[in-house]
Amino acid sequence: MKLSVYALPTLVPPGSQGPAVVIDVLRATSVMVTALAHGAAAITAVEEIEDARSLAASYPTDSVLLGGERQALPIPGFDLSNSPREYTPEKVKDKHIILTTTNGTRALASLAGIEPLFIGAFLNASAVAKTLAALGQDAMLVCAGTRGRFTLDDISCAGLIAAQLSRLIPNLELDDLAYTAYFLYQSHAQNIKHLVSHAQHFSYLQSIGLEADINYCLQVDALDLVPKVQEGTVVLQHLK
Ligand code: MLT
Repeated sequence: MKLSVYALPTLVPPGSQGPAVVIDVLRATSVMVTALAHGAAAITAVEEIEDARSLAASYPTDSVLLGGERQALPIPGFDLSNSPREYTPEKVKDKHIILTTTNGTRALASLAGIEPLFIGAFLNASAVAKTLAALGQDAMLVCAGTRGRFTLDDISCAGLIAAQLSRLIPNLELDDLAYTAYFLYQSHAQNIKHLVSHAQHFSYLQSIGLEADINYCLQVDALDLVPKVQEGTVVLQHLK
């Protein structure tokens, strides 16, 4: 079994096959994992704010929530921002969430058609590694990046998943970036926050008072579930 890591969705070769995992640690995939762990029925990720509003209008009002951000700030008129700490069971249980974010939802859109496509974060890294190991097929981890640029937060998480998968599949073959991510993670495993603190988006979130979100998103294996994209919607994949 081979594990490949892509620094950005745009680097994934056209026609690539799954299994694939999209990673946007700060904060889109952390939000998705959290929302589904807290009982959300499903999440539909859309690229544009107006498309999110129109889609939400097609659902019964009490069954849907609008969530997301622009420049990491709440979108006027939306029910939720892109802070995973807002996605509490009280707010999201049984709700269909329409989510629009700057990078995470675009990454998902650019990987449309790849199956299976899973959602990864530090929060569910072990569950993702177990799912990939159970499938036993060549797999790829795709980092969402920030505004088309490589980010340390996503590659660090890819390194953690690579390390966990290597423990489950002892002869796992890693491509060059998977090795790089693996060694980067291993050399900072004791202080991931220090490593990720060099990421530009870390500093930005910190500067607008969202350090608590960062701390939340950097928790390793807090949640034992793997969201999966199914017909354009993110739902819970039940672990066997
Ligand atoms: C994104 O998808 O662009 C991010 O989640 C941005 C953010 O931190 O809200």
